[in-house]
Formats: sequence, structure tokens, C-alpha cells
Amino acid sequence: MVIGMALRCPIVSVLGHVDHGKTSLLDRIRKTRVTKREAGGITQHIGASEIPTDTIKRISKDLLGMLKADLTIPGILVIDTPGHEAFTSLRKRGGALADIAILVVDINEGFKPQTVEAVNILKQNRTPFIVAANKLDLIPGWNSVEGPFVLNFNEKKQHPNALTEFEIKLYENVIKPLNELGFEADLFTRVKDITKTVSIVPVSAVTGEGIPDLLVMLAGLAQKFLEQNLKLDVEGPAKGTVLEVKEERGLGKTIDAIIYDGVAKQGHYLVVGNPTGVVVSRIKALLKPKPLDEMRDPRDKFKPVKEVAAASGLKISAPDLDTVIAGSPLRIVPKNKIEEAKKEIMEE
Ligand code: GTP
Ligand code: NA
Ligand code: MG
Repeated sequence: MVIGMALRCPIVSVLGHVDHGKTSLLDRIRKTRVTKREAGGITQHIGASEIPTDTIKRISKDLLGMLKADLTIPGILVIDTPGHEAFTSLRKRGGALADIAILVVDINEGFKPQTVEAVNILKQNRTPFIVAANKLDLIPGWNSVEGPFVLNFNEKKQHPNALTEFEIKLYENVIKPLNELGFEADLFTRVKDITKTVSIVPVSAVTGEGIPDLLVMLAGLAQKFLEQNLKLDVEGPAKGTVLEVKEERGLGKTIDAIIYDGVAKQGHYLVVGNPTGVVVSRIKALLKPKPLDEMRDPRDKFKPVKEVAAASGLKISAPDLDTVIAGSPLRIVPKNKIEEAKKEIMEE
């Protein structure tokens, strides 16, 4: 008997070299302006936001036929990571959380040190990924417009020179370096088996070209992933990782976390690592960011909830969090599972 079994929302990490457009692409999808408010235009933390399936369906409506199945996932949780070289540990953490990933590459600049680093993180974790070949609008002569790339990629819409330029950049800057790192890769329209060949989706975060194609390919890969992995049981105690420890007015120290497995319940106990051991604390409140809001820069207030199923961003309010630091593993468990959880945390 399967009670309460539900498809877990897959975690999609966004990785790539600094300024290749990771946050801008997410801003475009979410209609947010997170990039504008980042100090120096540089992402310095791991971000998280939920993209509901309805949003994917709305943006990609003309292309859903490309998927040979119905879209059954409840949505995706996207994890934004910093591309600056100083943040290797955050990229590793973001990469380790991922079920699947989007590697963002500026199609004009091509592979850079942190692009290679990102690919190696994905390789190590055996994380399937697609490539967003961004800044398509900057290809000389390219006529970039909002909407599906597949409708804009032909002789009627593009000058022959622009098409040639595109093919050269696609090959030299994206396909070839991927081949050199051991991956088969091609333009997504030419890929026959997405589990064998890395799909490259040309996009522009500025014009919005290719965003429908990117989301459809992502949904397709997410669904393939979930079919092949039976880690779908969102029944057990929640497992997660601390993104940030934050002081909140009226709440004191709180934890911003990503829950990657199980269900978090209010009134249960938070068991979380700190530099000297484990902290156990009774949860006062669970607060969930609104769909399409970036957790680290939300438009709306977080909403108090009784329980949250993976995968999700989550703010946790509980006493005694002063010694907890970013990156620590956490569990949310009923009283009788505290000892077991402590042991797990010590071993992580
Ligand atoms: P980090 O998180 O700091 O690694 O950077 P990022 O990869 O998130 O890049 P970000 O979104 O901060 O974008 C960097 C710059 O590139 C910004 O000035 C964006 O406006 C610009 N940019 C992003 N995408 C595009 C695009 O498709 N076309 C053009 N022309 N500019 C873009
Ligand atoms: Na940036
Ligand atoms: Mg960024």
C-alpha cells in the first residue's frame, strides 16, 4: 500500500562561470530582479526558488509537444550558485544537492575556469545536465526575439552570416570543450537520446529567446531522472542543509535551509550540526518562500506552514541556533527519532 507517496520535486542546480548569466536567466523565468540588487553584480550565496509546473507549462506551451509524456512533476526547486572563483565550496554544495543541473555558458566567451570546475563537480556527482548557451543576442547579426529558439532558428529569421557565426560559436565555444571533458554534446534539436548526449539550448536572458526551449528540455530531463530514481518517497523525516543563519526581527536567529528529502513538520525537532557537535532544538515555526520568489531576496513574506515536503526552501525558527553555521547538515524529526538523527549528523 502506498499512502502519501508523491513525486518529489526535483532539485535543479544552476552552475557556471562568473557573469555568464545564471541569475539573469532565473530572473527572466521568475520575473524577478535579483541580479539588480546583488552587490557588485556578483552572486555570493546559494539561492533557492520554486518554479511551479504551471509556470513551466505557461512559458513553454507551444513546445510541450516536444515532451513525449505529460508533465507530472509538481515543479522544480532551482538552486542558484555563485560563479566567482572565491566560492568553490558553495558551488560544490550546490552541485552536491542537485538531481540535475543547468550549466550556463556565455556562447561568445565559451568555457572559462569555473565552467570547467562546474563540469567536474557534475561529473564527480554523476549529475545529468543540460547546457544553457546564453547571451545569444550578442552574436553579431543575430536577430534575437522573445519566445522559442526553434521558431527563430532558420533562414527566414536570420541572415546566413549570423547562422554561420552561431554554428561556429556553438561548436568552438561549447561542443568542443565539452567533448574534451569527455561528453558527447549537441544542439538540443539534434539530440536523439538525452541520457547519452548533453543537450545545448541557446538562450538569451535579455530577450527571453530560448527560455521556453530550456524549460521544456529541463522538464524532460527531470522527468527522466525521476523515472530512473525511486527516491520519490516524501514520507520520512526531513533531511536538509543549512544555507544561511539569519537574524530575523521578532524571531531571533533563524535558519534558511534546503530540504532535499522527506517531510518537515512543525513541532518536531531540529537536529543540526555545529562546529563542535550537534544542536537539538524544538521547532517554533516553519516558513516557506512563495513560489517564484528567490529565497535570499524574496518579494513577499514567507508563509508559516505546518509541514513542507522535499524538495523545498525553508526558513526554520527555533531557539539555540547561535552556533549553527552555513553548510551544516540537518534533520527534522519527531522526539523518538532524535538519537538516530544525531548519529546520522555526526557521521555526515
Ligand atoms: P555570478 O552569479 O556572479 O557568477 O554571475 P551570473 O552568472 O549570475 O551572471 P549575472 O546574471 O549576474 O549576469 C552578468 C551580466 O551579464 C549582467 O550584466 C547581465 O545583465 C548580463 N547578461 C546576462 N545574460 C545576458 C544575455 O543573455 N545577454 C546579454 N547581452 N547580457 C546578459
Ligand atoms: Na554576476
Ligand atoms: Mg548570479
